[in-house]
Amino acid sequence: RSGHPMTDWPRLIRDTPDFPSPGVLFKDIMPVLADAEAFAAAIDALAAPWRDARLDAVLAIESRGFLLGAPLAQALGVGLVPLRKPGKLPGAVVEQRYALEYGEDRLQMQAGILPAGARVLLVDDVLATGGTLLAARTLAQRLGLDVVGAGVLLEIVALAGRARWGTDLPLRAACMV
Ligand code: PRP
Ligand code: MG
Repeated sequence: RSGHPMTDWPRLIRDTPDFPSPGVLFKDIMPVLADAEAFAAAIDALAAPWRDARLDAVLAIESRGFLLGAPLAQALGVGLVPLRKPGKLPGAVVEQRYALEYGEDRLQMQAGILPAGARVLLVDDVLATGGTLLAARTLAQRLGLDVVGAGVLLEIVALAGRARWGTDLPLRAACMV
C-alpha cells in the first residue's frame, strides 16, 4: 500500500532539474503511475469533467499521452484513438506539423478510423507551451471530428499553453503548477 491519500496524487509528480537539458526543470509524472491508488485517483480526476460530455472517443497523444488515454477511455466508456509520431500507423494517415523550441515534430492520425462529426476529447500528460495539444486539435479538426475539449494531467501555468489554446474550447487540467 502506498500510504498516499487519494487526493494527494499530485504530490507524487517529481521535479527533475536539468532534464532533458541544462536549465530545464522536468515534471516527471511516472511516480504517479507507479502508485496504484495515485494512478486511479489521477484517472478519476482526468475523467471527472467529461462524464456527461457524450464523447465518442479519446484521442491520445504519443507517447506519454498513451499512458493516460487508454485508462481514461475505459473510465469514460469510449473508444481510444492514438495520435502518433510519423511512420507508425498503417494505411492512410493525415499529418500535422508543429514547431518545437528547436525544430519541428509531426503527429499523424489514421484517416477514417472515426466518422466525421465524432465527439472527441484530446488527452496528454502535460500542457507546457501548448504546441503539441494545439497541433492535435488542428489534426482532429482537419479530419472533421468534433473536438469537445482537452484534458491534461498537469498544466505548467508559467509556460502559458492555455493562452495558446484559447477560450473557445474547454481545457481541463487535473492539477496545475
Ligand atoms: C511532452 C509532453 C507533452 C508535450 C508538452 O512530450 O508529454 O506531450 O511535451 O509540451 P508543449 O505543451 O510545449 O507542446 P514530448 O514531445 O517530450 O514526448 P513524449 O510524450 O513522447 O515523452
Ligand atoms: Mg508528450
